[in-house]
Amino acid sequence: MRIFALLALLTLSGCRGWTSTEPPVHPNPNMDTQIKYKPYRESEFFEDKRDMRPRVDGTVARGDLANKDQPVITYKLMQRGRERFNIYCAPCHSAYGDGNGMVGRKLPIKPTTFHSDFMRTQPLQHFVDVMTNGIRTMPSYKHQIPMEDRWAIAVYVRALQELGSKEKK
Ligand code: HEC
Repeated sequence: MRIFALLALLTLSGCRGWTSTEPPVHPNPNMDTQIKYKPYRESEFFEDKRDMRPRVDGTVARGDLANKDQPVITYKLMQRGRERFNIYCAPCHSAYGDGNGMVGRKLPIKPTTFHSDFMRTQPLQHFVDVMTNGIRTMPSYKHQIPMEDRWAIAVYVRALQELGSKEKK
């Protein structure tokens, strides 16, 4: 019995803990202490001193290749876009695209109008990306709308914008 008490005492006294300036014993370092770049740190190697490298021009993200193929813009494509837009987008963005659709006006965050200077200067690709990935509180529509139709809708959004800027004048 006494031996147990002694062992317990020894074990507990071992738990005192003390500080040391020596590095901890690290029998198996694996890759814990490798030399590497971390986000937003400085690099001595690159001229601009950034360790996060900018994307090389023309890089296409994995799985994104299909997005890049803008179809030839035809009247037929735009008509298809109008039909799809009125089904999928108009309830929120309105048939005119000012964000005042029946559903949209009830949302806590209003759908963006397409008739702002910012929206007018966006490339068609941006609208396709928004439909594919969603943006902020707007969900993705990639499962409902096939890629060709996303392009068709983007073309129609551009047509609405043209209409809007003509009316403004
Ligand atoms: C359920 C409502 C809803 C539907 C349907 C909807 N949107 Fe939106 N959309 C929103 C809301 C809300 C925002 C603003 C999101 C935010 O700012 O959080 C938005 C924002 C956008 C933007 C702005 C992107 C930017 O750069 O800020 C675009 C473009 C857009 N929608 C396009 C579309 C298109 C095209 C469709 C049809 C395929 C569509 N939306 C369908 C609600 C909707």
